[in-house]
Amino acid sequence: MSTLQIEGLRVAVGGHEILRGVDLELASGEVHALMGPNGSGKSTLAHALMGRSDYEIRGGHLRLDGEELLGLPTWQRAERGLFLAMQYPVEVPGVRAIDLLGVALRGRAASADAHGNGLDARLAAEAERLHVDAQFLARGVNVEFSGGEKKRAETLQLAVLEPKFAVLDEIDSGLDVDALRDVSRRIEAMTDENRLGVLAITHYARLLTELRPDRVHVLLGGRIVQSGGPELADTLERVGYEGLAAELGVEDLAVEAEAESDPFADPTLESNPFT
Ligand SMILES: Nc1ncnc2c1ncn2[C@@H]1O[C@H](COP(=O)(O)OP(=O)(O)OP(=O)(O)O)[C@@H](O)[C@H]1O
Ligand SMILES: [Mg+2]
Repeated sequence: MSTLQIEGLRVAVGGHEILRGVDLELASGEVHALMGPNGSGKSTLAHALMGRSDYEIRGGHLRLDGEELLGLPTWQRAERGLFLAMQYPVEVPGVRAIDLLGVALRGRAASADAHGNGLDARLAAEAERLHVDAQFLARGVNVEFSGGEKKRAETLQLAVLEPKFAVLDEIDSGLDVDALRDVSRRIEAMTDENRLGVLAITHYARLLTELRPDRVHVLLGGRIVQSGGPELADTLERVGYEGLAAELGVEDLAVEAEAESDPFADPTLESNPFT
């Protein structure tokens, strides 16, 4: 059993603090959904976990089985078993998916023996399972793939690489209904067969009907403001984030965020001495 612990994570992008203390813990085989309005920092969290170099980590921890990952380059995080399916997968002209996966697997010593030789067969089997045309694997990674094809291809990479934990940033966006079913069922199967732990970022409860979450978290104002069971996703669909904020008694999280990030505010003062 493995655990991924995010503790008090604070991240700034372009000098602006987007994540202001995120706590989340994930164990092998679990599915956690992360929801939140546009611009709330979900993708920022995904990129920060994977070690994007232009993101400034201002505090907190990211531990995989107790080992601190903050400070490690992306490839070492991947080597230890972390995977990110990006919201907007990058096109890599001239690098074939099959070569990329071969190199990635060889980079992981433990997996190399198991899969080093049978990579072609494994890829073919996964391609069939995910209904990905095998000819895509011989093209540059994601080059001229449609939006949905990119998401299927990311899922195929995930299935072949067998990480311990996968962060899936809107893996459901752009997928047609059949593709959504194929992709979510494949991931659900990995949580059983490989005990994959999943952090699924999504806007839609629909994904979560196939990929059943153990926990649902809501990111607002740079923090997780509520966590609950799968029913929380349905509640959100019904009341929206404004409704949730009202329910929580938070009048305006954006205003609160601004006030707290006031560069002239003195954090050592409990109250304003002038009032
Ligand atoms: N380089 C940057 N400089 C300043 N602000 C940035 C930069 N990159 C991202 N941001 C801001 O960070 C905030 C969080 O963006 P992020 O992409 O994490 O949101 P999100 O929750 O994934 O939204 P969505 O649901 O639309 O995908 C946004 O307000 C965005 O404009
Ligand atoms: Mg995003």
